Amino acid sequence: MSSLQSPKHLRCDYLINPVGLDEARPRLSWEVSDDRQGAKQTAYQIGVGSSAEKLSAGEFDVWNTGKVSGDQSIQIEYAGKALTSRQRCFWQVRTWDAEGNASPWSEVARWEMGLLARGEWTGQWIGSHLAGTKEQPMPVPYLRKGFAVKQKVQSARLYVTALGLYECEINGERVGEDCFRPGWTDYNKRVQYQVYDVTALVKQGENALGAMLGDGWYCGRVGWAARQRYGDRPKLLAQLEITLADGSKQTIATDETWKYNVGPITESDMQWGESYDARREMPGWSNGGFDDGQWLAVVSFADSGAKLVARVGPAVKAFEELHPVAEPVLKTGWEKADWIYDLGQNFAGRVRLKMKGKAGMTATLRHAEMLQANGDLYIENLRGAKATDTYTFKDAAEVIWEPRLTFHGFRYVSLSFDPKCDIKPTRDTITGIALYSDMPETGSFECSDAMTNQLQSNIKWGQKSNFLDIPTDCPQRNERLGWTGDAQVFIPTASFNMDVAAFFNKWQQDLADGQSEAGAFGHVAPNPGLTGDDGGPAWADAGIICPWTIYQSFGDTRLLAEHYDSMKKFVDYMEKTGRGCIRCDQRDKYHCYGDWLAIDAPNPGAAPTPKELIGTAYFAHCAELLGKIAKVLGKADEVTRLEALHGKIKTAFNREFVTPAGRVLGNSQTGYLLALGFDLLDAEKQKAVLELLVSDIERRGWHLSTGFVGTPFLAPVLTRFGRLDVAYKLLMQETYPGWFYSIKQGATTMWERWNSYTHEKGFGDAGMNSFNHYAYGAIGQWMYDTIAGIGLDETAPAYKRIVLRPQPGGGLTWAKGSLMSMHGLIESAWKIDGGKFGYAVKIPANTTATVHLPDGQTKEITAGKHEFSCAV
Ligand code: BGC
Repeated sequence: MSSLQSPKHLRCDYLINPVGLDEARPRLSWEVSDDRQGAKQTAYQIGVGSSAEKLSAGEFDVWNTGKVSGDQSIQIEYAGKALTSRQRCFWQVRTWDAEGNASPWSEVARWEMGLLARGEWTGQWIGSHLAGTKEQPMPVPYLRKGFAVKQKVQSARLYVTALGLYECEINGERVGEDCFRPGWTDYNKRVQYQVYDVTALVKQGENALGAMLGDGWYCGRVGWAARQRYGDRPKLLAQLEITLADGSKQTIATDETWKYNVGPITESDMQWGESYDARREMPGWSNGGFDDGQWLAVVSFADSGAKLVARVGPAVKAFEELHPVAEPVLKTGWEKADWIYDLGQNFAGRVRLKMKGKAGMTATLRHAEMLQANGDLYIENLRGAKATDTYTFKDAAEVIWEPRLTFHGFRYVSLSFDPKCDIKPTRDTITGIALYSDMPETGSFECSDAMTNQLQSNIKWGQKSNFLDIPTDCPQRNERLGWTGDAQVFIPTASFNMDVAAFFNKWQQDLADGQSEAGAFGHVAPNPGLTGDDGGPAWADAGIICPWTIYQSFGDTRLLAEHYDSMKKFVDYMEKTGRGCIRCDQRDKYHCYGDWLAIDAPNPGAAPTPKELIGTAYFAHCAELLGKIAKVLGKADEVTRLEALHGKIKTAFNREFVTPAGRVLGNSQTGYLLALGFDLLDAEKQKAVLELLVSDIERRGWHLSTGFVGTPFLAPVLTRFGRLDVAYKLLMQETYPGWFYSIKQGATTMWERWNSYTHEKGFGDAGMNSFNHYAYGAIGQWMYDTIAGIGLDETAPAYKRIVLRPQPGGGLTWAKGSLMSMHGLIESAWKIDGGKFGYAVKIPANTTATVHLPDGQTKEITAGKHEFSCAV
C-alpha cells in the first residue's frame, strides 16, 4: 500500500557517506519517499549524533533541528555545533506529510571531517632523488614505511595527498579504488587531499604503508608541453592515524625515515603510457616485515605554501569493461607480430592484459581511435601522445596486468611482440576498462529512431570519456585540457546525463584559481600556463554559465554565493575593457576563437560570424545571468545595476550588428542564433531574423553551418520561435554536415569536426582531429527537454517545479526520458497511435509540474503518475 515511508537517498554535499570534508556547513539532501498522489513534505527533522548508537537512542548531541516547517528537502545547510577535524557525524531525517503524519526515521547516514588546519599535518613532503628532465622521465618511485602495531585496531584513517599521483597500499592491499588521486588543480595554489577508512587493512603486529608515485599532471606531460610543468618530480604527504583498542593513538607520517626504491614501473606518463618490467617486481614491498635494507632513504622537501584542501569532486574510478567485438586480426609485414583488436566503442581508459608470455618477452599495447584503410592503427591525430604501454614478462606463467598511472583515448588496440615467441592471442587476451569521474548516471533517453538513439549513446560516451577529474576537450592527443568553451556549451546536457554537481563545484574553483588579476577567466582550467589569460568570448564566459547551470539543475545556491565576487569581477572586466559595450573590438586586439570550426571557415578560428558580435552577445548574456544570480542571492542593488548594464549592451548590439530591417552582420546562422537565443532583439525584428536563419538553412539543403558557438542554439532556438520542423530536419540530416552524418561514417562518440572522417575522403586534418570531443553533443539538452519533454522551471530550480513539454516531430512515433533529479525520479513517455498522442508521466513527491500538450493544452500536476492524450 502506498504511504509515507522513511526518506531515502541521503546525501551530504552530493555524496553518499563522504569521508574527509573540510566544509564548515555541509549541505544535506534527501528524497521524500511517498508514492501517494500529490504527496508533499510539510516539515522535516534532522538529527545528527556523534555515534550511530547515540543516534539510535534518539540522542542528537551534534545537531537537532527539531521539527522545521516547509518543503525544502535538498541543500539544507548544517547549522549545529562547530565541526572539528576528524569528527564523525551520523545523521537521520524524517518528514511530515500534508495531514501532519510523520514518516519513520531514515536509515543512518554519515559524514566525516578531514583535517581542518594545515598544522594538523605532522608529516613532511617526501620523494626520491630522481628528477628526470623536461624530456626524460624517471622510473616510478615506490615509497614505504614499516611499523609495528601493539594492540588490536579500533579504527584507522589514511590522510594522503601528492604532487603527482599516488596509489597507496597497506600490507599488500590497495587503498580504495580511486585512480589519479589527488586530482588536477593548480598545484601552486591548491592541492586536494583524500581520506580513506583503512581500518580493515591495518592489523596488530608488523605492518607497512607503501605508495607509488606517478608523474601525473604535476610533472608528466600536460597539453602540448614538455614534462615538469609544475615541478620536477612527484612527492608524497601522508599520515596514517590509528586508534588502538585502548583508545590511544598511533600516527605514521611521511618523514625522512621512509625508504624508497624503483621497481617494475620503469616509466609512466599520462600521455606517453606506462612500461612495466615484471623482472623488477619486489614481491611483498608493501607488507610488514619486508626487508628494505637495500632501499634508499627518501628526500624531504619544503612545503610550497599551496593550500591543502579536502577533495570536492568525485574520484575517477573504473566502470564499464569492454570486450573485443571479434578475434584479433594479425597484421604482417612488420618485424613484430601485430594483433589488432576492435573494442567496438571509443572511450577513455586502458587495457587489462591477460596472457602467457616468455621470460624476457615484451608485449606492446598501442592505442588508437580509428584504423587506416590498410587496417593499421591511425595514430597521426594523437600528435605527441605516444599512448603506448609495455609489459615485459619474467617467466611463462599467465599474468593479468593493467597499467595504473596512465590512460588513453581509444577504440582499437594493437598488441605486438616478437613473432618468434609463437603465441596466438585471442579475444580474451585484452579487456578495455573505461575510467571516468564517479558521477551517477541520472538521465536516460530513447525514441523510435535508431540513429537518434545512437546519437544519445555517442553523447554519453563523449561525456564519460572527457569527464576525467576535469572536463577535457578530448582524451587522446597531447591536449586533454579543461577548455572552458567546450565545457560551457555542453554543461546543460551533461547535467541531464549524470550527476555532475560535485564535479563542477570542484571545477569552478579551478576556474577561479585561474582568473587573471584583471578579472578574465581562462581558455582552460586548471591553467597550466600554456595559453593566455583571457579565454575570450564563449570560452571565458564558462565562469558564469557553468555555476548558473549547476544552480538550475541542482539548486546549488552556495556555488553562486561563493563565487559571486569572482563572477562580478569578470563582468566588471568586460565592462572596463569593452568599447562602449562592444566586447573584443578588433582594434583593441582582444582574443576570440570565434565560432570555432564552423563550416565556412577557411581555418578553425576564422568563421564568418564577426568576433565582436559573439563577444558582445556573450557579454550581454553574462550581465543578464549575473543579474539573475544577484536576484537569487538577494542583492537588490546589483540587480538594478546589472539590468541597466544588460540594457546598454543590448542597445549597443543592435546599433552595431543589426540593420533596421533585421539583418545581422556576417549573415551567419550563428549570428542569427545568438541574437535570438540571447533575446537581444526587439519583437518585430525577431521575425525577420528567424526568416533569414531558416532561409539560410534551406539554401544549404537543410544543413547547418555552425561551429562550437552556434551549434548548441540551433534546435532550441528554432523550436522556441516556432520552427520545430526545421530543428528535427537538422537533427535527422544524414548528409554532411550534421549529427547523423558522423554516425553514418561509423562514429561511436562525438567528433571534433563535422567531417573528422568520411568514407569518401578519409581523415580530416590530423593536426586537430579528435574523434572524442563532446562539444557538438550539446544537442542532448534538446533531446531531453524537447523530444522527451523533461525541462526546468528557472524560478524553481533542481526540478522542484518541472516543465513537461514533449514536442513530437521528425516522424518519431514514441520517445521516453527519465531523470533522477535531486528530488527523485522524473519519467516522461509518449507515443503516437492512430493520430492520437498518448502521454504518461511520473514526478516525484514534493514536486509539481506544468504539462504542455502538443495541442496547446496545459495542465498543472502534483506528485505521482498521470496520463494524458490529445490529437496530433
Ligand atoms: C581544443 C578545443 C578548444 C580549442 C580552442 C582546441 O585545440 O581541442 O576544443 O576549445 O582548441 O578553440
